[in-house]
Amino acid sequence: MNEKYEEAKKILKKYKQEQLLIWYDKLIEEQKEELINQIFNIDFEEMEKLYNQTKTTKSFANCKIDPLPYIDKEKLNKEDIQNYEKQGIDVIKSGKYAVVTMAGGQGTRLGHNGPKGTFELEVGEKKPLFTLLAATIQEARQKYNALIPWYIMTSRENNQQTESFFIRHNYFGLGKENVKFFVQNELPMLDTNGKILIDEQGMVKEAADGHGGIFEAMRKEGILQDMKERGIEWIFIAGVDNVLAKMVDPLLTGIAIQNKCLAAGKSVVKAGPKEKVGVFCKKNDKPSVIEYTEITEEMAEKIDEKGELLYGESHILCNLFNRKALEEIAKNKLPYHSAFKKAKYIDKSGVIVVPTEPNAYKFESFIFDAFEKLNDMAILRVKREEEFAPVKNAEGVDSPETASKLYINYMKNRNK
Ligand code: UTP
Repeated sequence: MNEKYEEAKKILKKYKQEQLLIWYDKLIEEQKEELINQIFNIDFEEMEKLYNQTKTTKSFANCKIDPLPYIDKEKLNKEDIQNYEKQGIDVIKSGKYAVVTMAGGQGTRLGHNGPKGTFELEVGEKKPLFTLLAATIQEARQKYNALIPWYIMTSRENNQQTESFFIRHNYFGLGKENVKFFVQNELPMLDTNGKILIDEQGMVKEAADGHGGIFEAMRKEGILQDMKERGIEWIFIAGVDNVLAKMVDPLLTGIAIQNKCLAAGKSVVKAGPKEKVGVFCKKNDKPSVIEYTEITEEMAEKIDEKGELLYGESHILCNLFNRKALEEIAKNKLPYHSAFKKAKYIDKSGVIVVPTEPNAYKFESFIFDAFEKLNDMAILRVKREEEFAPVKNAEGVDSPETASKLYINYMKNRNK
């Protein structure tokens, strides 16, 4: 152990991160070992690059941006829908379809104590988000008489609580063997001087590496392999917090297949030029999403010949991928974006600091950065009130209150 300690010390000296060992002597043996392992696993060169990157702004200025064509579900006639759906249903019925839920986020805006999926939404009675998602899968299983495996991405922080929750709920009757968890990667958080923070336990302060971490995690954790062995070809990936996500969707699947695309995404109409959402676009002729922080005012307000926003297809984190596309994307890392966040840490004098203002950089990759690796992507515009009810904030927009209203209304109307 001593040798490893000396080695870690040397590495830290080289990268001027010696603070990471100041509480080492106070740790118990197990923690000491974990801390040394954490240090060995950090790519310090990359952390330096990421810190330098916080001083620059990412710009779309030198890219060629165009609208990405989409299909409007409302404008499809019955026959078209049936045609598309037939192909999708074949995929689902033959056991080639799986669902992935990304549940590794911290849910800081919601402020719920525990994994976001365990948050109880009032929908006539209080039901956890995971319960609502499980019901969607259960219903599809019955409708298509198919086994639809469910993969759930968690973080180191919430994995145990998430798994225990599923055990307590007996995997919602879906069968333990059909629900698989996998943990995403983490990256250290940096203070404003580029120093890695220490958490309350004296360990390296790390945070999940964003929903874009899904591709690497699926490869590393053997999920892609598991899918291959099960003969899965199409994979729907969505967040844990959209209670109306139509996770088993033959229409989207059929559209992807008929358009010969290895991926498809759903959009809803952007509420207005200023709504804080990313929109689908083409960037240098490849599918992409331009974020609200990156789009110019002029582009955001541009109107097309139908009088609609030219860049008005909001990305709602509901995407479908062919397994081959996932395997290809997972070969390389996606770029990281930095966010300035509030992060609790322990300072040099041993005081636990609970900041009231952002104090640290967190690095995340975004799932939509992977779209550029694809030649094309089919986009399906769906109705917000039918497929998008996110639980993001404790109050106001995209809150439990709005999501529960949308969910209740949808359930009422669809049974009419
Ligand atoms: P958000 O970006 O809305 O983040 O994630 P969040 O963690 O839920 O909430 P805030 O921003 O801290 O308030 C969208 C979806 O992506 C997942 C989340 O769990 C959510 O389902 N996600 C996000 C991950 O799985 N891992 C991550 O590292 C980040």
